[in-house]
Amino acid sequence: MCGIIGILGRPDVSGLLFDGLKRLEYRGYDSAGIATLVDGRIERRRAKGKLANLEKLLAAHPLTGTTGIGHTRWATHGRPSEVNAHPHATGKVALVHNGIIENFQELREELAAAGHSFVTETDTETIAHLLTQYLDEGKTPEEAVAAGMGRLEGAFALAILFAGWPDLIIGARRGSPLAIGYGTGAMYLGSDAIALAPLSNRITYLQEDDWAVLTPEGARFFNHDRRVSRKVQQTALSGAVIGKGNYRHFMMKEIAEQPAVIGKTLQVFLDPNKRRIKLPAMPLDFAKLDRLTITACGTAYLAGFVAKYWFEQIARLPVEIDVASEFRYRNTPLPANGATLVISQSGETADTLAALRYAKAQGNEIVAILNVLESSIGREADIVLPILAGPEIGVASTKAFTAQLTVLAALVLAAAKARQVIDLRHEVELYNALVSLPGKVAEVLDNDDHLQKVAAEISKARTVLFLGRGSAYPLALEGALKLKEITYIHAEGYAAGEMKHGPIALIDGNVPVVILAPHDNLFEKTTSNLQEVHARGGRIILISDAEGIARAGHGATHALELPQVDPFVAPILYAVPLQLLAYYAAVAKGTDIDQPRNLAKSVTVE
Ligand code: AGP
Repeated sequence: MCGIIGILGRPDVSGLLFDGLKRLEYRGYDSAGIATLVDGRIERRRAKGKLANLEKLLAAHPLTGTTGIGHTRWATHGRPSEVNAHPHATGKVALVHNGIIENFQELREELAAAGHSFVTETDTETIAHLLTQYLDEGKTPEEAVAAGMGRLEGAFALAILFAGWPDLIIGARRGSPLAIGYGTGAMYLGSDAIALAPLSNRITYLQEDDWAVLTPEGARFFNHDRRVSRKVQQTALSGAVIGKGNYRHFMMKEIAEQPAVIGKTLQVFLDPNKRRIKLPAMPLDFAKLDRLTITACGTAYLAGFVAKYWFEQIARLPVEIDVASEFRYRNTPLPANGATLVISQSGETADTLAALRYAKAQGNEIVAILNVLESSIGREADIVLPILAGPEIGVASTKAFTAQLTVLAALVLAAAKARQVIDLRHEVELYNALVSLPGKVAEVLDNDDHLQKVAAEISKARTVLFLGRGSAYPLALEGALKLKEITYIHAEGYAAGEMKHGPIALIDGNVPVVILAPHDNLFEKTTSNLQEVHARGGRIILISDAEGIARAGHGATHALELPQVDPFVAPILYAVPLQLLAYYAAVAKGTDIDQPRNLAKSVTVE
């Protein structure tokens, strides 16, 4: 996802813009650039590829000025190149954009007919020419932006510079987040609070169709053509919070944070005195629900998929789940007065936001499980349940996943109690299983030597299979997703029982097969699948506890032993070795672990 930074009123603006782009790298990008006003004139420096290329260009051709904008681009319209890199400019306007302008061709033709000539394939350049057209007609910058917002269709977050206006930046948002940061005699704009963290911890988030006029004195807010006021919030983020610490990659730092994150998240949902679940507020009347709908994308979807097993088996509540990119277009009828649960780390995933809007339009109560509470999904959900994972910078989601599962597990226990389908003994047993998790996860993290060796072997594979049954099946899908997204090795997750219906044809001595076998009621079934794979020469990596390995490990090439846990929380614990296998395999392959190719941290476009 593209990243935006804007700074006004700082003499060292070029260096600060570059630092801001470094903090935005985690979002994924393929080119970058900055623009400043030098004696009132627009000057740009842009480069394809990693920020190091832009850094070299700035060293050779420094930019001065006190006001500027910067951008990391994740290509939508137009291939990654210097020409297509933002900022885009005319002689009068320079701007950076996150989103997609859906009517840009129509505008482009209209502007070309009015004499404008274009140098790029991007939708963004059209906005620069549209605003320039308005300036040419005598409009002020504010009038030009107000008029432009009325012509643009689609999603945008914009930061705009105007030649000859060194004390002005205008920001605008529709469908893509944008935050304003306050300084003393300086003002800031960023795609998120992380981009602004070291610059300001007083933040205002623009709302849909807001635009903001920034000057050294502060910010004026408008919605369409109406003046509005927006609240200033204090963020907890600081430059330190988003550093890598002693870790080589953000992903490893975030994997290592999981015991603390799970513990912190549990504190919100558990009552240690009564040793029972205590939700901050009962989000739904579970007793009245006939069915729960769950929708999300990627790893967040897989957290919901695990929860489907829990809701149905423990709370006896039927669940309909689908990936948001399908759910939003299925036009599925939802139960009147039903409830839909959306799960998202960033709270900005376009498909999940669209799915939320579909369910809301059907009259559903919307519960969102989020990490970034100040987000589009956070604003549009009826109830928000926080996961308290802290900023997740690595593109591959790790601590957010286990924190989402922790919240979901607490929600399932609350639902089971509300539906009176769980007795006190069983509730306390599951409560204790949850409370034991931080220590068990820490134990796995402290004993990964053997796992690192197995990961080095996996890094050489052409394809890898992950198998699991029951709530370990979505986990098998997550293990495959982690491996493919950071090592680029093809991997597939399968329901272990499905192997004999075709995929077993893939098995030979070159295919590592990771089998997740927690000690649950399906253990025997899973180990019979292990024997099927073993009989065909598959290289089995068995993940289970000591007893499971003693009973089934003889057919495995490698056995990774985990602490014994109640099957209820096995999906949370078993996620950790899968994250570590992917991480160490990627280290062995030397891929870009925190910003894997083609990926963005949050996909805010369709
Ligand atoms: C997970 O490792 C991926 N980065 C991706 O699948 C991600 O989970 C998905 O894009 C959803 O993002 P969200 O949680 O911010 O909505």
